[in-house]
Amino acid sequence: MGQIITLAIAGFFMWAGTISTASAADADSGKALFEKSCAGCHGADGKGNEKMAKLIGDKGLNIVGSETKKKSDEQLLKLIAEGAGKMPASKLSPAEQKQALGYARSLAK
Ligand code: HEC
Repeated sequence: MGQIITLAIAGFFMWAGTISTASAADADSGKALFEKSCAGCHGADGKGNEKMAKLIGDKGLNIVGSETKKKSDEQLLKLIAEGAGKMPASKLSPAEQKQALGYARSLAK
């Protein structure tokens, strides 16, 4: 059983690795951008990366909850561009930040 789970997890990371090398021109670029620039803290599912939560605390790492849903795109894009608390200002272009947020929003549905 344990082995099956390990294999499933390894498979997932191999799959995620393929996605993150996809070019930004892909329709899935929001996903690729999110996995490259955001998932390290927020997790591939937007619920927060556990390892990062241990390092910097879990405050704000879950971005698929109702608190985040209530906020407007403008509010969240400003936060992504400028940073907030332990989140650094994003180095992505404004268009890429929008795509990454769009993908994060899609995880919350
Ligand atoms: C170094 C870790 C880190 C990275 C990388 C990071 N974030 Fe964050 N993010 C945080 C933390 C910590 C908070 C909570 C900030 C606070 O204290 O208000 C946060 C907050 C947010 C929020 C606000 C949630 C809310 O309800 O207010 C959104 C949306 C968000 N991040 C999206 C992103 C996106 C999109 C990216 C990638 C472009 C990203 N983050 C990259 C750590 C990170």
